[in-house]
Amino acid sequence: MNVLKFGEMKAAGQKISMTTCYDYWSARILKETAIDAIIVGDSAAMVMHGHRSTLPATTDLMVQHTAAVVRGAPDKFVIVDMPFLSYRKGLKPAMDCVETLMHAGANAVKLEGIEGHQDIVEHIVESGVPVMGHLGLTPQSVNQLGGFKVQGIGEKAAARLLQHARRLQDAGCFSMVLECVPVATAKRTTEAVAIPTIGIGAGPHCDGQVLVLHDLAGFNRDFRPRFVKAFEDGFDLVQRAVDAFDRDVKSGTFPTDAESYQ
Ligand code: KIV
Repeated sequence: MNVLKFGEMKAAGQKISMTTCYDYWSARILKETAIDAIIVGDSAAMVMHGHRSTLPATTDLMVQHTAAVVRGAPDKFVIVDMPFLSYRKGLKPAMDCVETLMHAGANAVKLEGIEGHQDIVEHIVESGVPVMGHLGLTPQSVNQLGGFKVQGIGEKAAARLLQHARRLQDAGCFSMVLECVPVATAKRTTEAVAIPTIGIGAGPHCDGQVLVLHDLAGFNRDFRPRFVKAFEDGFDLVQRAVDAFDRDVKSGTFPTDAESYQ
């Protein structure tokens, strides 16, 4: 995968698959999969660190996660979230953040919204760094949105989302995430732009889909919104393995001679 392939896949009607990844060991697994690209999401703050939102993610945190992922899956296309407010304090701090993330191994950066920072998006793109947009439910604005809620409902909101999608395209973005928007809004937006839309809770008409790795692998028992499909029961798998280990240790059946040095 590379940045040009995104547009080519949309033009050819091929769906794009993406998932999140935050660490070396799961990146090693993704390396051996057909997944098209990886997002080192600021959802790391929630999934990996137990925070209630993505706001606590910092550039330093994203760098640690990015470097680990790139070591584990060096050939995958890795898109990294610019953290909360990092692109809202002016051009210089934004570009410092982009530089740091790219030095950590990112192939592209992702940022939320367009209002008030279109010039920064354009500057990042003009600097040779691919940018992915993110519209709909933009988790960094959770306090402004009044919670993690479906966005783009109704004609006015759908038209606004479409206008923002066009602006992201005009600013030079190579693709955009559409998060938690109604099927019809996502379809209309997808058909209106030439760059691929990657949906999460945005229905089947997007050009690609992304899910958080821990959600699709069934590690997150407490979080099952409508749009999540757990393709395996990872929670159960790990729990069974650990309980089996515990039983064998306590019954004295592990380790055997086969697992011991004589
Ligand atoms: O932070 C994240 O994980 C994301 C993806 C879900 C798109 O932004």
